[in-house]
Amino acid sequence: MKIGVISADASHESRVAITPDAVKKLRKLGFEVIIQSGAGIASYYSDESYQTAGATIAANGSDVISDARIITTVNDLPAQMVDSLTTGQIVVGMLDPYRNTQLDTYAAKGATVYAMELLPRTLSRAQNMDVLSSQANLAGYKAVLMAANEYSRPFPMFMTSAGTVKPAKVVILGVGVAGLQAIATAKRLGAVVEASDLRPSAREQVESLGGKWLDVPMSDEEAQKAKSTGGYAWTPSEQYMTDQAAVVDKALSGADIVITTAQIPGRNAPRLVHKATLDKMKAGSVLIDMAAGTGGNVEGSVPDQTITTDNGVRIVGAANIPSQLAAQSSDLYANNLVNFITTLIQEPATDDASSQALTLHLDMEDEIQGALAVTHDGQVRLARR
Ligand code: NAI
Repeated sequence: MKIGVISADASHESRVAITPDAVKKLRKLGFEVIIQSGAGIASYYSDESYQTAGATIAANGSDVISDARIITTVNDLPAQMVDSLTTGQIVVGMLDPYRNTQLDTYAAKGATVYAMELLPRTLSRAQNMDVLSSQANLAGYKAVLMAANEYSRPFPMFMTSAGTVKPAKVVILGVGVAGLQAIATAKRLGAVVEASDLRPSAREQVESLGGKWLDVPMSDEEAQKAKSTGGYAWTPSEQYMTDQAAVVDKALSGADIVITTAQIPGRNAPRLVHKATLDKMKAGSVLIDMAAGTGGNVEGSVPDQTITTDNGVRIVGAANIPSQLAAQSSDLYANNLVNFITTLIQEPATDDASSQALTLHLDMEDEIQGALAVTHDGQVRLARR
């Protein structure tokens, strides 16, 4: 059975879905692997390195689609590739399911499409398939380095004969996987860090990393809701948002660096920083809006652009940070995909198994496959939000 790898659109994506190491793992399971020529170049993986790992190279994406049973991709496939899919083919990738406009076509083609973002994250056997975590972790780290580059002062405190340099004050809004890594990275660089999240359980994690928790008052009803949503973001009340804006306003007027990470799967990102607050920030301060690609946490942020406000505040619309660490993020993403693909086959093959020995085991009752499958058997299965 063949697994294909489609090249991402190089204008906005440098990652590749399967790396040479992952090819070796898939070969060991009994798969053959076919890679679109040049798919790994932007992640520093040459066609030769894939061939050495045991893959074959296809001249173009159409050859991969016509040859492979399982197609792996970083982002959604281009429309003409979706059109050439045939019944029974499987597509696995980060397909942005709630905003994906091609699901009806995938279903009409009879393809089974797995959107990796829909993984049930609290399931322990699914953790090694968690693409949101693997990518967000790297993104949180890189966001701090991007901020450090944009900022015209250092992060750590310096005592010099010419004077004392104060440490940078960093505020992190949204303390999930990316936010926690951002706190750890900013602390390692010597910054003073404050952070907030609408999940009260994040407080302990912030404090354990040496950050200061910015508390937003919460009603008893909201505290109850926060608990009952199993630790995931809940929809806050108007009152909470007003109180949060006041806390953010106060913290940001003294901040040097702000990193916002708040996302809500399937919805636009919440607006956490308003223009009135930006107007009070110091000239030279830097905001990295990691939610710029899904509507933005910061008013005025533009995906993939850096905007400087009239008062000298720089807003970086960071739409796809993992792509900037393409070699490493591809490694982890590929591992996540291999771990998931392993669950699609009936029995683990032995070292010398031939590809004929593999049998697919598509099971929509399985809690991982069932959660990820957005189309199967001619139907769109995703409950749209
Ligand atoms: P995310 O990328 O969806 O959002 C980032 C953070 O922003 C989250 O902590 C969220 O609570 C926060 N946020 C959303 N709306 C907000 C608002 N209006 N104001 C302030 N903060 C807001 O989050 P991520 O990193 O994907 O993590 C989501 C949850 O999943 C977290 O509770 C995390 O601990 C949990 N998780 C659990 C795993 C497991 O149990 N194995 C694995 C990975 C994540």
